[in-house]
Amino acid sequence: MGKFDGRVVLITGGARGQGRSHALAFAREGADVAFCDIAAQLDSVPYPMSRSADLDETTKLVEELDRRCVGVTADVRDGAQVRAFVERAVTELGRVDFLLANAGIFSSPAMEVGGNGITVNAVCPTGVDTTMIQNPAAYALFLPDTENPTREDAAPAFQSLNAIPVPWIEPIDISNAMVFLCSDEARYITGETLAVAAGATAANAG
Ligand SMILES: NC(=O)c1ccc[n+]([C@@H]2O[C@H](COP(=O)([O-])OP(=O)(O)OC[C@H]3O[C@@H](n4cnc5c(N)ncnc54)[C@H](O)[C@@H]3O)[C@@H](O)[C@H]2O)c1
Repeated sequence: MGKFDGRVVLITGGARGQGRSHALAFAREGADVAFCDIAAQLDSVPYPMSRSADLDETTKLVEELDRRCVGVTADVRDGAQVRAFVERAVTELGRVDFLLANAGIFSSPAMEVGGNGITVNAVCPTGVDTTMIQNPAAYALFLPDTENPTREDAAPAFQSLNAIPVPWIEPIDISNAMVFLCSDEARYITGETLAVAAGATAANAG
């Protein structure tokens, strides 16, 4: 029996990276999954964004866990597209229990919705091993004087941010926090920010 049997999770930015990891972590706990992703390149983003093949891959991986999955192409900056995504999720999966605003920041109305027993929390990671940091433009930010810096070149610079000596953490580390915060064990945790940061928060405070 999973923590989320019969429940439905909505995830933004689920085509790859942390969003995909969350989709699979929640599916392993029994949840059906609806996710959206822009699945297209934005000119302002200096690294390859996900594509429809990534969206299809997340859907396939969730379905392989015998859970239902609705993957929708939608841009979280567009209210109409987000509404259509949520409506499709409710129509096809029947309910919504959890929202993981993985792409885009949603407002955090913990006070507003607390009376209804709804919890709202934020998870703040250090560097996570996804394309968002594993790309030449990100490496160059850390190593402006190195020609064509690589993942290996950038690792010590990323590691210097963290108290625990790792350059970055894995998407599953964030998924584990998401699963905990959505579980009954965390039913009275709301309005909080949880850093999953290998000590980066403490390192920066010092
Ligand atoms: N990777 C890190 O080190 C790190 C650290 C702190 C916070 N974050 C945040 O974590 C979240 C997930 O990033 P990731 O590390 O999995 O990177 P990623 O690039 O692998 O995945 C991000 C996903 O979001 C999708 N996306 C981007 N803009 C979108 C939009 N407007 N509408 C819908 N989908 C959109 C992308 O297509 C992609 O599939 C992001 O919000 C990112 O800012 C990442």
